[in-house]
Amino acid sequence: MTDFHIKIGSVEFMNPVFVASGTFGYGVEIPDLLDISKIGAIVTKSISLMPREGNPPPRIVETSSGMINSIGLANIGVEKYIEEMLPQYAQISTPIIANIVGWTFDEYLEVLRKLEAVSSNIIGYEINISCPNVKKGGMEFGTDPETVEKLTSLLRKATNRLLIMKLSPNVADIASIALSAERGGADAVSAINTVVGMSIDPYSHQSNIFTTFGGLSGPAIKPIGLAAVQKVYRKVSIPIVGIGGISSGNDVVEYMLAGASAVQVGTATFRHPDAANQIFDQLKTYCQTQNIQQISDLTGKVKLHS
Ligand code: SIN
Repeated sequence: MTDFHIKIGSVEFMNPVFVASGTFGYGVEIPDLLDISKIGAIVTKSISLMPREGNPPPRIVETSSGMINSIGLANIGVEKYIEEMLPQYAQISTPIIANIVGWTFDEYLEVLRKLEAVSSNIIGYEINISCPNVKKGGMEFGTDPETVEKLTSLLRKATNRLLIMKLSPNVADIASIALSAERGGADAVSAINTVVGMSIDPYSHQSNIFTTFGGLSGPAIKPIGLAAVQKVYRKVSIPIVGIGGISSGNDVVEYMLAGASAVQVGTATFRHPDAANQIFDQLKTYCQTQNIQQISDLTGKVKLHS
């Protein structure tokens, strides 16, 4: 029997397969379609200080082996989130990680403080410093090492809960950004958010996304995600949550070998709401056939040629 428990910071998770921000609502919308108690953790969509409509449509398009989104961080805002969503978490045993976004240091801090001020069973926070779909904020915070360290340490001082910084692949050196998050006191980093992409209709000559550019996700970006995780693993000692194109149990194994302690399933959930559970079942079969005793033993164990 494999032991699937993994630890991030001081939090122990039952299994390493989480669902990614922006692909599972606030965690309470689809319980009829799957057994959410089997999911390792639910990361909510990004929550901002004020409610947001997001970008105009079209803001999502399918591409070869993936999709592009430019939602623009549409969400109900932290006040309504506290009022309407937090009470529902009392019925859920799955760990909830609230994803937070802001346009200034103060905004990030205020959202976090508002969540800290109320009693809830949120287990921690993932900080979105990597959204490519807004002119200001989002990725703007995740491209400069100094800014990342400053923001991380500001938020670290405001919470003892799990603090995960979500990194962008759209930077020159993702490992240095991860190092800044570690220096700022993050418990972990998650990598990667989407890769900037574009899609055009060859007949109408029209861009398929209103904002022209959007974030590419799905199997097309898995090799980029794996490389990012391996680079970050070489540079930091905090755990890494791997994200990007995970759609099978073998994909989870690859991410763990590259250095991830846990993973998030994103785009695959749009094809099958139950994708995370199916992927975990495949992971169980893999571990059984490969005689893996402890899932965490896989982390970072890729065999390199040099
Ligand atoms: C979006 O809302 O545009 C996507 C969120 C993200 O990529 O962080």
